[in-house]
Amino acid sequence: MQQRLSLSRAARLVGVARGALQQKIQAGELRSFDGMVSVDDLMRAFPAAILEGDIGFERVARIREEAYGKRLREHLLPSSEILSQRLFEQSRELADLRSHLQRYHAMVVRLRERLREQEVAASDGPAATAQELGAFLDRELEAVLGQSETPNPIALMDDMLRVMSAHVVLHPSRHEFFVDGADTILDAALRSGLAVNYGCSNGNCGLCKARIVSGQVQKVHHHDYVLSEAEKRQGYTLLCSHTAVGDLVIEALESAEPADIPEQQIVAKVKTVQALGDELMLLHLQTPRTNRLRFLAGQNLTLSAGGASAQLPIASCPCDDRNLQFHVVRNADDVFAQRVFGSLKSGDPVTLFGPWGDFVLRPDSPRSILFAACDTGFAPIKSLLEHAMALELSERLYLYWFATRPTGHYLANLCRSWADALDNFTYVPIAAEAGDALELVSRLGADHADLSAFDIYLAGPDAFVRSAATALQERGFPETQLTAAIL
Ligand code: FES
Repeated sequence: MQQRLSLSRAARLVGVARGALQQKIQAGELRSFDGMVSVDDLMRAFPAAILEGDIGFERVARIREEAYGKRLREHLLPSSEILSQRLFEQSRELADLRSHLQRYHAMVVRLRERLREQEVAASDGPAATAQELGAFLDRELEAVLGQSETPNPIALMDDMLRVMSAHVVLHPSRHEFFVDGADTILDAALRSGLAVNYGCSNGNCGLCKARIVSGQVQKVHHHDYVLSEAEKRQGYTLLCSHTAVGDLVIEALESAEPADIPEQQIVAKVKTVQALGDELMLLHLQTPRTNRLRFLAGQNLTLSAGGASAQLPIASCPCDDRNLQFHVVRNADDVFAQRVFGSLKSGDPVTLFGPWGDFVLRPDSPRSILFAACDTGFAPIKSLLEHAMALELSERLYLYWFATRPTGHYLANLCRSWADALDNFTYVPIAAEAGDALELVSRLGADHADLSAFDIYLAGPDAFVRSAATALQERGFPETQLTAAIL
């Protein structure tokens, strides 16, 4: 039987993002059966992948690391206990396969014996048939036993990958992710951009409770929350306290909309305050490890420090829910901004309320995406883009960034590095001299013959967003495919 792999595992094995495989499937260059691909088809589609190494995967991993912080590498290797459990599971699978093979071998030997008996017993027509079958069997056995088997490199790498990481499928969404190293299932799901249900992330609230449909989990953190005996019998576990021993299928709730996310109040600490030019600061906050912020990419928070407060878009991805970034513009009328530019320093407390807003990605939309930002409208767009990258969307992503302030395209290097690393991402910086929001919409229309094939996300100052939205409507762009955030 042909060995089949899930798309996520196949993408890891040949060193490309999952989106690249989906593109090959859509282009008819790779066959898929019920979301799986065969090892042979994969080798045909990526003949050089093993020799080239995992360049594509590394590129995406590098982006993720840069986007979500260094803490991702903290626990890369599984603990020796988990490694030994995964090896034990692999050994059991191998032992099963061996015993199967031995049974088949014994059956073929018995079949050969029976054919010999037939050849001797019968004298006419049937004997000739038996002889012919016997000769055929001898030739086949000789060919099989005489082959010096070259191990299939993808199958070998798959075995290795199974020891290092476990593959998880969520039901009912069929979303997939990997649990690497000593990660909890919750951390691994969040890092892959999935909005699974959780609360404290510390084993106290029970909100991350999910049912294990198949596979084994192991506790890696203590939890105070007590599962009932009935829940244990039904296979429930806490995702924030357990890791995967082997491949898992889990039944778990996922948040699809802002209404699914509860309001929270958390006291975070300033990690850094970094100038991005004379007029702009990058404020990096970190929440306590045991009280992380649950939000959707593109949402806002109310920040409060020393009696001053402001509502700002989060400029980072929920896949790193402890590390929150904000782009703060110098403004003499804004007391919170003055504090950021004046006295706020590393270690200071900042209270967070929220999250707010519905400027979020449309779940499971099949369309490519045009992001259009004006000035610090880039902040929520950055959050959406990083989330799209974590999800490894296969659709094309375009960023048009219109800069009117002296700080210009203040994170242009980051955008260029995304464009260098991702085949499906295009970065188009537009300077203020190029015109206004109407010019931007004309440019979108000139670059893309059929704008209705896209979802468009607009973010920036009131005048920019309103005038771009009106210009799009006048072009007949469907309102349901437009999402806007006014800063
Ligand atoms: S998130 Fe609270 S117990 Fe897991």
